[in-house]
Amino acid sequence: QSISRHDYRPYPYRITHADLQFDLQADATRVHTRLSVESADASGQALVLNGEDLTLEQVALDGRTLSPDEYTLTENTLTLAPGTLPAFTLEITSLCRPADNTQLMGLYVSGNSLFTQCEAEGFRRITWFPDRPDVMSRYRVTLRADKQRYPLLLSNGNLLESRDLPDGRHEAVWEDPHPKPCYLFALVAGDFACREQTIQTRSGRDALLQVYSDHGSEHQTEWALDSLVRSVRWDETRFGLELDLDRFMIVAARDFNMGAMENKGLNVFNSAYVLADPESATDASYHAIEAVIGHEYFHNWTGNRVTCRDWFQLSLKEGLTVFRDQEFSADMMTHGLPEAEAQSARAVKRIDDVTALRIAQFPEDAGPMAHPIRPESYQSISNFYTATIYEKGAEIIRMQHTLLGEEGFRAGMDEYFRRHDGQAVTCDDFLSAMESVYVRQNPGSTLEQFRRWYSQAGTPRVKVTLAHDAAAQTLRVTLEQRNPPVGIETRQNPPVEKLPLHIPFALGLLDGEGKELSLTHKGVKQATALLELREKSQTWTFENIAEQPVPSLLRGFSAPVIVEYERTPQELALLARHDTDAFARWEAAQSLATRVLLDSISRPESGSPDEQLLIDTWEALLQDGSLTAAYRSRILSLPAERELLEKTSPLDPLAVVEARRRLIGKLGDALAPFWMTAYEDNRIDGPYAPDAASSGKRSMRNLALLYLMAAGGQGGQELTLEHYDAARNMTDRMAALGALVQYGTPEARSERLQHFYTQWRHNPLVIDRWFAVQAASAATSLADVRQLMTHPDFSLRNPNRARSLIFQFCTNNLRNVHSREGHSFWAEQVLALDALNPEISSRLARVFENWQRFTPVLRDSLQQAWRHIQSQPALSSNLSEIVNKALSAQ
Ligand code: ARG
Ligand code: ZN
Repeated sequence: QSISRHDYRPYPYRITHADLQFDLQADATRVHTRLSVESADASGQALVLNGEDLTLEQVALDGRTLSPDEYTLTENTLTLAPGTLPAFTLEITSLCRPADNTQLMGLYVSGNSLFTQCEAEGFRRITWFPDRPDVMSRYRVTLRADKQRYPLLLSNGNLLESRDLPDGRHEAVWEDPHPKPCYLFALVAGDFACREQTIQTRSGRDALLQVYSDHGSEHQTEWALDSLVRSVRWDETRFGLELDLDRFMIVAARDFNMGAMENKGLNVFNSAYVLADPESATDASYHAIEAVIGHEYFHNWTGNRVTCRDWFQLSLKEGLTVFRDQEFSADMMTHGLPEAEAQSARAVKRIDDVTALRIAQFPEDAGPMAHPIRPESYQSISNFYTATIYEKGAEIIRMQHTLLGEEGFRAGMDEYFRRHDGQAVTCDDFLSAMESVYVRQNPGSTLEQFRRWYSQAGTPRVKVTLAHDAAAQTLRVTLEQRNPPVGIETRQNPPVEKLPLHIPFALGLLDGEGKELSLTHKGVKQATALLELREKSQTWTFENIAEQPVPSLLRGFSAPVIVEYERTPQELALLARHDTDAFARWEAAQSLATRVLLDSISRPESGSPDEQLLIDTWEALLQDGSLTAAYRSRILSLPAERELLEKTSPLDPLAVVEARRRLIGKLGDALAPFWMTAYEDNRIDGPYAPDAASSGKRSMRNLALLYLMAAGGQGGQELTLEHYDAARNMTDRMAALGALVQYGTPEARSERLQHFYTQWRHNPLVIDRWFAVQAASAATSLADVRQLMTHPDFSLRNPNRARSLIFQFCTNNLRNVHSREGHSFWAEQVLALDALNPEISSRLARVFENWQRFTPVLRDSLQQAWRHIQSQPALSSNLSEIVNKALSAQ
């Protein structure tokens, strides 16, 4: 059932052309497929095609209809015995059923329209085909459908012709000039509004950019189209990569399993990552839309022009493309800012990305699903669209960028395209292209050891030891790495041997007053030394260090590792006030807060002795005029519940929730006048704009509001109610609603929730927020959630809605999900979703994959819930892979 990376064999045939004809109807769509097939080797192997939930009607070879005994049909394969022909035409007619397709993989119905999602293995749900990324073909697609119901018929590439047919039907013929794997195929049929713009690409070609959405939402697509234009420009200037199509389309779908999909020339998006206007979208959604539009657009080169040989190489395109979208967002956020602010804005992006990595990827890397960014085996590939493949994958690309420098990295990218444009390749191929530059820069050295990042799972630990010699004025810095076994490795006998990794570790030093010392490293005097740790343990000596310094470690988060170094709270406070590296400075403040929180969990009666130090530090940061509002809002936030949870052992969710609520209240109260000043100072007059400076101000102002609200007392709630009423954009309105739902009185809460619902009931994306803000609140009980599930607007079938209520509750309502009833609710919903949509059910299942690390009572109850899931008949393959891994790790 499980397939292994080493089993890869090239496909024995080439499919040079695929000519697809669709008679589109929601209940049953007939697909006529004509494939031009050539034998790719002399091995004489059978031709095996994949298919799923299809009805086969006819097979013909070179125009001759085959009788059923001339091929072998199983539930998921169609096999033709090897012929003697070197080239032939294979024609297949089959039916699929879009209206019954609740999995949203293949051809499915959303609203009144038809959409496709093929990555990773959805094309086989449309027609019989070798559904693997290394089979690349030229596509010609004919779409026929009722003209009234489906006035727009879209597919990849260029529109060759369109015409009316008898009986109120019409037809469109599309041709994609670029050979592609079938996972990049797409079609869309329906009635949409379109916003478009023609631009000239760098070489002077015209390209038509279009964004399609439901009628009535056309006023919400301006930001998406602008983001697309910015993406095209950015890839031209930063990577020299040009749009290779005359037409590039984005279509918004209300029902979508993931964020978006990079189908060649026809991206299909979750509407949440397309639609925005100031009244209904938050700053966070504006930024997410820009990032996801960038991400999908950048796939046009990193993913489409150069694609993956097999799905074990998924991070080849995803890690690289996430890195590219992170850089794009950072460049957009810093565009036009003076140097000091640009640095701080870049740090804010880095802080947000690293926080996401720690919340989602670190736990994954410590649990039963732990896998290297290039996995060795899987049962269901859709379970591997993970934070490890994406976010850790991006960190591994970023380390290459750090080692090579911007110019070297660009040279490596150029070399990658020079070698592999038009091919389906491996992660190794990418690294080799980068290595060709690295060896020129570092004669005698290679990236051989760096390759281990692709094959070793788990978050490495780096232990730091400092030895200062006052007489010699030297400092010896020792870094020691450990890569303990994780996931299934922990049960392997003999234990797997993990080898030392090549880790770029950025280090700075401050003196006792917080002044930065300069370091001489590799003959250069600098503020930050990039140490390249390759051995298990390595020591560097720095000269002219007069006194014992305070180290600033892993600056910029230069590697995805956990640093082990004992610091005093006073050192943390010093770094929080003075570190010149904005990331490390934020990290120090967060570590100080974490320390206070963990103290108060381990001794609830006495509290933390460092609480006053934290309050003083927060006060100093509130008064530091050199910080931008966005950065200040990050450094003054307490670590998220889930981040904190990861630091408790055993995992103790209730203690985390209480400790964090108490400390927010305390800081709110102790610093009330300062929060009030921050609230006043960050007011914005004038029209809404989502730029980094304005969204930073809103974010600081809304943080101040939250502290004031959490402080308790009449004043906070009154201010929050006023804030809600005065809000002229969704960011401010949601901030107020969120604060009320968390900390408000029951009357205030329900009154504003009702108001919000009435005002926004016709906008599904806003109603998602309405469900989500309630689901995640500690004030919302399991009974409240069950009540919300009976709301007429709730549906388990729409992934966004299921995520907004069920996933939010299970993932973020740490106070109320952790009971026997809460756990069995989770299991019940996993099973209900599994009958509809296995990709979604297995994601929900994964919320508690780390069940073993919880406190004994919760652990028992979670184990029972897992066993209940496991005992059910007919689990999807996706879910059974997760269940078996979760339970076998005990
Ligand atoms: N390639 C897409 C992206 O990263 C993700 C598609 C995954 N689809 C899926 N059904 N698992 O942009
Ligand atoms: Zn992607």
